[in-house]
Amino acid sequence: MKKITKAVFPVAGMGSRFLPATKASPKEMMPIVDKPLIQYAVEEAVEAGITDMVFVTGRNKRAIPDHFDKAYELEAELAMRGKTELLRLVQEVIPKNINCIYIRQHMALGLGHAVLCAKPVIQDEPFAVILADDLIDGQPSIVKQMVGVFEKQQCSVLGVMDVPRAQTRQYGIVSSTNLEPDVEKVTGIVEKPQPEEAPSTLAVVGRYILTPRIFHHLEQVQPGTGGEIQLTDGIASLMSEERLLAYRFKGIRYDCGDKLGYLKAIVAFGLKHPEFREDFASYLKSLN
Ligand code: G1P
Repeated sequence: MKKITKAVFPVAGMGSRFLPATKASPKEMMPIVDKPLIQYAVEEAVEAGITDMVFVTGRNKRAIPDHFDKAYELEAELAMRGKTELLRLVQEVIPKNINCIYIRQHMALGLGHAVLCAKPVIQDEPFAVILADDLIDGQPSIVKQMVGVFEKQQCSVLGVMDVPRAQTRQYGIVSSTNLEPDVEKVTGIVEKPQPEEAPSTLAVVGRYILTPRIFHHLEQVQPGTGGEIQLTDGIASLMSEERLLAYRFKGIRYDCGDKLGYLKAIVAFGLKHPEFREDFASYLKSLN
């Protein structure tokens, strides 16, 4: 049985929904309280035992490799000033024995194309795909939960949740039959259907465990919704030869690609922050 040791983070997107904040800095670096979104995503992978982080990056994304690199000057400065707690925080951004690998996606041809760019690094292993703007708070981490399903079932697994029917046009939507509690056997998947055409309201939200056979299918798919090479279309094609499951994860998902979702995440994580949760809670109460 192959272990999941690699995760792909597609981070080449423009972040147009957050302009002008994302004009010069990556949307994945937007903080939820004191950590950037991409760090939450990497921590989720680390918790699942993943050791190789594969970032598929693009223009204007230099802050991401910098964030996961050693910061000699900053560390020396903090050490000199005796700021040991801050020094520890900076050094722990990337735990020991974790490799960060960067691949450039030269053209923004879609999520499926971004995942295909990781093929030379992933090669013949099953792997995780994590979309950092879907921040999911779960215990254990969602990827860890999904790796558990993969280990038992030995096939690709999609992280899914129910969404209001009016929102199906924002997601990959699956049709399925129930296999066991929280696990569905996928019978179809379609990218961003209109509410009246959606086969269900079960949406894929930014977490995938995929077998390496996906690359073969992504190489064949034609541009789909929005003229892009869609990961969803590659997965639909993969289903013609492999079993595919959907897992209803246990956790709360915040759509941080959306301004309201981003604000909700900040409030939720602020209310959990050990330094100021009580003060923040009483501040929020005082607003009513
Ligand atoms: C992408 C995928 C979609 C998925 C969504 C989850 O869409 O194409 O299938 O449901 O992520 O967030 P995007 O949000 O990049 O348009």
